[in-house]
Amino acid sequence: MRLTSVIAAAAATVLAAGVLAGPVSAQDYPTRPITMVVPFSAGGPTDTVARLVAQEMSGALGQQVVIENVGGAGGTIGAARVAKADPDGYTLLLHHIGMATSATLYRKLPFDALTDFSPVGLVTDVPMTIVARKDFPADDLKGLVGHVKANADKINMAHAGVGAASHLCGMLFQEALGTPLNTVPYKGTGPAINDLVGGQVDILCDQTTNTTGQIKGGAIKAYAVTTPTRVASLPDLPTTAEAGLPEVEVAVWHGIYAPKGTPDAVVQKLSAALQKALQSDLVKTRFAELGTEPVAQNRATPDVHAAFLKEEIERWRPVIQRAGTFAD
Ligand code: MLT
Repeated sequence: MRLTSVIAAAAATVLAAGVLAGPVSAQDYPTRPITMVVPFSAGGPTDTVARLVAQEMSGALGQQVVIENVGGAGGTIGAARVAKADPDGYTLLLHHIGMATSATLYRKLPFDALTDFSPVGLVTDVPMTIVARKDFPADDLKGLVGHVKANADKINMAHAGVGAASHLCGMLFQEALGTPLNTVPYKGTGPAINDLVGGQVDILCDQTTNTTGQIKGGAIKAYAVTTPTRVASLPDLPTTAEAGLPEVEVAVWHGIYAPKGTPDAVVQKLSAALQKALQSDLVKTRFAELGTEPVAQNRATPDVHAAFLKEEIERWRPVIQRAGTFAD
């Protein structure tokens, strides 16, 4: 048999398998563990949310959803990793509001948040808290603002990189005070809060999923929560509006993404597994303990997520342009 016909026959077999595998694979999906990329350090707020949801999604999908932390550049390195991954449903991204803000903060991003991903669904909206090291010389937000304004050149503020939620909140805080501060970047607020507890940095704006335990343990001082209403798990903490800084209002929404081109049947299966995970006792109980809650079921869907992402990119663009803070 001539070599060319052997090669042709082999190619035909592979092709047949590929075509056959396509629709069938969506039905059989998943047949092996799934990687969920978290674009920040392990142990931080995004990691905490991702590990809880991944645990419950594993049960719903019948395959392990394994977390991989790919930190750096405010979450854009991990996002870029998933944008380039095979669109087969085995590489996912759990990211937050940074997906929207980085679209303006970075003028040269190696991906397009709106076109390089298939949104799977929203997960939760986490309030943020303005906190400081426990010996910081202020007992309420007014005192903090006064002390920061009077000592701006001596005060530093931690954040998890340009594009991070802690960076966005820090930007709103500095804008509201009209005072630029020295900032200290980390790969996540997991390591940042350790340095805050250790007194190496002065102030931080971070998600309740990362600060609640430290606040309740008295390891850090808390001044306000950045949502219009107080958080049930921190009932004594005033809102920024109550405490006189209404401009600093932000909640950190989170969503799951697959690479663009992932079969729709696979995306729908992932969305169904996410919806199931968000109804689980584990997720509901832990989220409540950490100051947040699952989104409503209709928001844990691809279409609502895609539309919301677009709105958020447009909402934050003028705020960031006004602040004039760009990563590049
Ligand atoms: C993290 O998980 O470290 C945070 O989400 C970082 C941030 O966005 O502030």
